[in-house]
Amino acid sequence: MVRAMSGESGARLERLSGMLKRRGFILPAFEIHGGAKGLYDFGPNGGRLRNKVNQMWLDHWISMGNIAEISCPTITPFEVLEASGHVGEFSDFMTSCLSCQEVSRADTLLENYHPNPDSLNKSELQELLSKESPPCPSCGDNNWSNITAQNLMFNTRIGAGSSGRDGFLRPETAQGMFTSFPVLYRHFREKLPFGAIQIGKGYRNEISPRQGMIRLREFNMAELEYFIDPEMPIQHDFSNWSNVNFTMIGEHEGEVTISIVDAIETGMVRHATVGFFIAKTYDFLTNVGIDSSRIRFRQHESNEMAHYATDCWDAEIHGSYGWIECVGIAHRGCYDLEAHEKYTGKSLRARRDFATPKEIAIDGWTIDGSVAGPAFRSLAGKVKIAVEELPLETSFPVNITIDGENVTVQENHVKRLQRTDTVTGEWYIPHVIEPAFGIDRIIWHILDHAYEESEKQGESYTIMKLNSNVVPIDYAVLPLFEKDGMGELARSLNSMLNNKFGVVSNYDSSGSIGRRYARADEIGIPVCVTIDHQSLEDNTVTIRTRDTGEQTRVKASEL
Ligand code: ATP
Ligand code: GLY
Repeated sequence: MVRAMSGESGARLERLSGMLKRRGFILPAFEIHGGAKGLYDFGPNGGRLRNKVNQMWLDHWISMGNIAEISCPTITPFEVLEASGHVGEFSDFMTSCLSCQEVSRADTLLENYHPNPDSLNKSELQELLSKESPPCPSCGDNNWSNITAQNLMFNTRIGAGSSGRDGFLRPETAQGMFTSFPVLYRHFREKLPFGAIQIGKGYRNEISPRQGMIRLREFNMAELEYFIDPEMPIQHDFSNWSNVNFTMIGEHEGEVTISIVDAIETGMVRHATVGFFIAKTYDFLTNVGIDSSRIRFRQHESNEMAHYATDCWDAEIHGSYGWIECVGIAHRGCYDLEAHEKYTGKSLRARRDFATPKEIAIDGWTIDGSVAGPAFRSLAGKVKIAVEELPLETSFPVNITIDGENVTVQENHVKRLQRTDTVTGEWYIPHVIEPAFGIDRIIWHILDHAYEESEKQGESYTIMKLNSNVVPIDYAVLPLFEKDGMGELARSLNSMLNNKFGVVSNYDSSGSIGRRYARADEIGIPVCVTIDHQSLEDNTVTIRTRDTGEQTRVKASEL
């Protein structure tokens, strides 16, 4: 939930945003053309930081052993998102200020008047808006239009002219992973559970993106779709978290501090795999440098969940904008695969074998091919499948729908079917558990938590205490002066460091050494290597550590 900032925290936020822009971490995009709300650049420092966070995220999940990375297009045909329910359901409620025409999300306007306005339906929001009349964030008036639903997807046309078809920029990466289920199933030798992960852009035409990196119109998503057999209990190893107490807000329990095993055993978390992913999410967030004391998990209220979900937990992180949802962990049930299967008629099922084969007595109906074949022609196969699902009590004629076409099955089209089958297994629609990460919101909080201000000799001093896993630059190599061969030695050390796999080193010779340390601290470089006159004599250098300011002399060859 995003709250307005005031006083000192607002001033800190302004200084932090200014620094991030000045130092090329994150900055509004296309600024020389006036910018566009909800679009941000990762600059020369942010670009590498983002890449490291992405890579850590991929490694974090792939190490489970049964997860594969895939990549799907961001342009998505209309049918895919109609089948998934996004065309009908993916909306926010908006209202316009009748004085200045600024549009706002109705639930955001009402955050100070209700504990969870996101859970309200349209008429509840309308009632609260009329009762509370909050001020317009733009002009301060409180004169609002009626609330309307606004679909958040960006429309596009795929192809030109009359051969073009409707499409959207994807609002989540997930759908491509559902439609890829058959290839994933083959890849994993038809054995569940397994998962697909994907990092890429998602697009949402957000109604009023006012909170910097928190609400973007194009953003970086990282999602895992984990396919499970709902009837097969999965044993997860929770031993890594036996000493971790999680802050969790349950729909019925309120806020508690609890181990993940207890949260599952008491039924607060409704599925063990959801609990496992909550714990894995906690590990990922702390590994990239999020302060563990500012992470909590909040369960969605039943009326707050997305159209596909049966249980959902948000990982929320506290920072300059208050508590912000950064990850959603949803039990999507069989919603997605079933929806695409119904829409396309293509099987998105997995097979489970019975422990012992079952003898099944069949007593019902099938078609009489000699009459039904000529009568239904190309539809005869599908009519047969439908007729075999009819109960014995069915009286004919009966109307059934095949591929959207109404078909009447007469008594002479069918005959009684009685036999005993030995069945070794069955086809079922897998369930999906999905952790969906918003990389930009996570990066915002990494930067927010790392940012430390202090005073040094009467001047404000900034250190970005970034976790070394995500620092954009690993070393700064600083010659005390560029003369007497110090510059050459520093340059050769700098290129030696840059030649190490995965290491980035920056050569910096501009300004006093104090200024250069300050610049390095501000962008979070963990180690500065200083070359001075002594270095020329004995080939030693000074190592300065960012977080402590400690300096030690080491041999250059030991770097
Ligand atoms: P919100 O309620 O804040 O709009 P959401 O519930 O719609 O978020 P999800 O649909 O669950 O979010 O998306 C998964 C993740 O993607 C979120 O946890 C968040 O980190 C990120 N995300 C969603 N919308 C945006 C956005 N407009 N800008 C940046 N990140 C976003
Ligand atoms: N795939 C989860 C979401 O975007 O809501």
